This record gives sequence, structure tokens and C-alpha cells, in this order.
Amino acid sequence: MTIHSIKAICCIGAGYVGGPTMAVIADRCPDIVVTVVDLNEARIAAWNDPDLNQLPVYEPGLDVVIARARGRNLYFSTAVNEAIAAADMVFISVNTPTKTKGIGAGQASDLRWVEACARQVAQYAKDHTIVIEKSTLPVRTAVAIKSILDTPQQRSEVDQDVPTFSVLSNPEFLAEGTAIRDLEQPDRVLIGGEDSNAVEALATIYRHWVPNEKILRTKLWSSELSKLTANAFLAQRISSINSVSALCEATGADVREVALAIGTDSRIGSGFLSSGPGFGGSCFKKDILNLVYLCHHFGLPEVASYWEQVVTLNKWQQNRIARLVVQRLFGTVTGKRLAILGFAFKADTNDTRDSPAIHISMDLLEEGAQLAIHDPKVDSRQIALDLKQSPSNPLSDLKGEGTWHFAIDVAEAVQGADAVLILTEWEQYQNLDWSNLAGLMRAPAWVFDTRSVIDPAQIAETGLILWRLGEGSG
Ligand code: NAD
Ligand code: UGA
Repeated sequence: MTIHSIKAICCIGAGYVGGPTMAVIADRCPDIVVTVVDLNEARIAAWNDPDLNQLPVYEPGLDVVIARARGRNLYFSTAVNEAIAAADMVFISVNTPTKTKGIGAGQASDLRWVEACARQVAQYAKDHTIVIEKSTLPVRTAVAIKSILDTPQQRSEVDQDVPTFSVLSNPEFLAEGTAIRDLEQPDRVLIGGEDSNAVEALATIYRHWVPNEKILRTKLWSSELSKLTANAFLAQRISSINSVSALCEATGADVREVALAIGTDSRIGSGFLSSGPGFGGSCFKKDILNLVYLCHHFGLPEVASYWEQVVTLNKWQQNRIARLVVQRLFGTVTGKRLAILGFAFKADTNDTRDSPAIHISMDLLEEGAQLAIHDPKVDSRQIALDLKQSPSNPLSDLKGEGTWHFAIDVAEAVQGADAVLILTEWEQYQNLDWSNLAGLMRAPAWVFDTRSVIDPAQIAETGLILWRLGEGSG
């Protein structure tokens, strides 16, 4: 079998997946020209910014990889059609959010951007092109993509050659915050497809740095479904441990000890057992709801409701945090100053999509609190978009009810606060000088640690009252 040799790759979508994934491919395959294209001009300009601190995605190690490959064989561009025409292989890495209206609203994935890409590839590709689903998609989306690609197109007189296509599924398993490590040392690479030549062409690219035994080849449908299933299993573990956190608080147990005790059973495993304020991010909820929709579609309502419960529990966990903060602060936070430490949905990312901090902050604003919000990587503009409200800056302007301020550091955030809520596990929050911070707050002052970042010994002697998620008293 002669394997199609790949000289040029185009990736449509320069987001959290397209940017880092293609940067690593370009870094590891200097003989392949990789062009990442996007409609969003500002995003492409940021990817091309000479100042690597301005990259649109914050990921540890990404700047180093970009510095090596950009301008050598890695390019970022808005010239989508030209990049498609020049490519032997096109990755579709665009957003697939939950539909907000129409059939399947609130559950099904909105595939309009994927379809637009397929149409554009059908129109501008030349010769044989391997089209790869990198976005997370419902099972059997490849059928729709293939049928769009195989529809005869109106072509210009100088361009009468009809291209041919193979469609593969190659879902991405990277997690934000560890994307570069996940891409450079993946647990596995999954390639689904029926055209073995195309499958091997893609496997050849990954073999530049991934051992062959870690490259799994499956049917297309298994690959598409495995991605949704992996996210559903991961999210299910978080909801499971979060459900236990509430039981620990009620019974006097400690969720960290329970997680350790069950996680040392090799059949259960220790990963993904950190109880927290509920999972956030752009994918878990969207992918489970997509799975739920598919189950209904295929006549499996019991399976649908089984998975839906994972999302229901997650929402409950987020809501109960704001509720218990209000209860502890004598039943009211109206006009009270609260410091929010961490707004990103997890540490080491600037991504706030579906962050628990958004839901918890919204609940507290609704209760009339004044929030001073700090995050090392999320900027004020993004928080304002998420909270749908402009900040009160400077801090002296933070007045009234249901208002918020963007704090430049932790000390400013806690100034005059009745309570601190730690909502993201940034490393810098693990070693704060609590005796100093306590002096800036209004007594009796609380620290609500939803991420288990504080060692209770750090708080002892400060006069602060510590509440830790999943820790019962007595
Ligand atoms: P994103 O929103 O950060 O990026 C998508 C980009 O695609 C945007 O910049 C958008 O402008 C661009 N785009 C949309 N339609 C386009 C078109 N027709 N032509 C050119 N550009 C277009 O999304 P993301 O987080 O990178 O996720 C992309 C996909 O990968 C989703 O399906 C997601 O479920 C999946 N995924 C995400 C992660 C993650 O950690 N974020 C991990 C694994 C899989
Ligand atoms: C997740 C998966 O881990 C990736 O494999 C997948 O590729 C990606 O979704 C995707 O498809 O988008 P990501 O959402 O970036 O990655 O980050 P995670 O580390 O999975 O964290 C998700 C959320 O769960 C965060 O809010 C995190 O704080 C929370 N979490 C995670 C916990 O509350 N406890 C844990 O033990 C682990």
C-alpha cells in the first residue's frame, strides 16, 4: 500500500484545540507546512503577535513551541480558501456548541460551523484531500460531511479537476492547562476511518513522536462515540465525588480522605476525584447533553436520563456553594464585600467558558453582594462579558448592591471583605500570607475553599473561619 504523502496541512479553527494541536504537529514535523486558518481576524492577529504573551490561548509551554515553529512551517492566516486549496489534509477544528434554538435546543450540538467548513472544503480543495474531524461531533456526522464533500461543485473554468475525499475522525483528548504535555505525550491517539490509506497517512504524522502502539485505529463511528463517552465518564466521576462531598459535610467525614481511600483501589484509580465547585469548561456539559440527545434520538430514554443526571448534579453543586456562603454570613450578603479568587474554569488556563465562578458570582450578585474578583490570567473585559455587567473601578467605586470590581492582586481583592471564596486552584493561592490578609478583612471573616488549596494550618492563629468543601464538622 502506498501511503498518501502529506506535505501541507490546513486546520480550520484557531481556537483552544486548533492552535495548540497544530503547533505541536508543526513542531514535530518540520517537513510539513501547517496553516491554521480562522474567520476571526483578531484571533489570527494575536496568534501572529511577536509578543508571545499576547497569544490568544494561555497554555504552559505553548509559547516555546510557537517560537520554534511559527514562520518556519507553522502559519496563522485568515485566507481560508487558499489554505484549503494548498492542503493534502484538512482538519476541521471549529466550535460545536449546544444548540440554543430549534430542534434539539439545549442538548444537540450546533453543527452549522462544521457544515460551513465542509462546504468550503468541497468548493476549494484540489486533488485528493483527507478531511479530518478534530472537533467533537455527534456519532455519524461523518456521513453528512462526506455527502457534502461528494456533491458536485460549480468550479471556475481554470479549475475543472474534481477533487476526491476521505473522511476520518481524530478526536482530541487534550485538557486545557496541560494541553502541550497531553499533545506531546498522549495516552493514546484515536483514528477512526474506513480508508486504510488515509488512516495510515494520518498515523504517519503522529508517529513522528507517538509510539505506534498508542495509535488506535477504529471504525469511524467508534471513534466519534469514544470521544463523547470519554468526556461523559470523566464528568461522571466529578459528579460522583461532588455528591459525596455533600454527604461528607452532612456526616462529619472528609471528602479528601474518602477520595484517597477509594482512589488507592487500582480498579477505581485516583485520577479525577478532586471534589470542587462543579465542572466547568466548554465541553463536559455540552458533550454529555449531546450524548443525552443521541440516546433519545435512538430510542434509549433510560440511558439518556442516566447521563443527564451527571449534569443535574453538577448544577446543584454550583448552586449550593452560593447558598451556603449566604447562610454562613448570617443569611445575607446584600451590600457585603466578598473576594473571589479565581475566575477561570480550572488553573493554568485563561478560559472561562462555563466556569463555575460565573454561576457562583451571578448567584451572589443576585443576592446583592459586592464582589472583588481576581484571576492571574483572565482579564477584566472577559469577566464583564461573562457577568454581563461592567466593573466598578477603582475599588473606591465598589458600592451598592450586586456590583463587582476587577482586583489587580489578592491583597486588593480581600480589602474590607467579609469573606474570600477560592474558586480556581491557581498555584499562587496555595501559599498566601493569610495572617497579613486577615488584617485587611472585616471580622468575623470567612474563607470558603472550594478547591482544597488551603492547608488548615495556614489559617490557624489568623482569626479567620475556614470552610472547606466536603469537610464535615464534629
Ligand atoms: P474555539 O471556539 O476556541 O475555536 C473554534 C474556532 O473556529 C473559533 O476561533 C472560530 O472563529 C473558528 N471558526 C468557526 N467556524 C469557522 C469557519 N467556517 N472558518 C474558519 N474558522 C471558523 O473552540 P475549541 O475550544 O478550540 O473547540 C473546538 C472543538 O474541539 C469543539 O468541537 C470542542 O468540543 C473540541 N474540543 C475542545 C477541547 C478544549 O479543551 N477546548 C478539547 C478537546 C476537544
Ligand atoms: C476535558 C477532558 O479532560 C479532556 O480529555 C477533553 O479533551 C476536553 O475536556 C474536551 O473535550 O474539551 P478540560 O475541560 O480542558 O478537559 O479540563 P479538565 O481537566 O477535564 O477539567 C474540567 C473541569 O472539571 C474543570 O472545571 C475542573 O476544575 C473540573 N475537575 C477536574 C474537577 O472538579 N475535579 C477533578 O478531579 C478534575
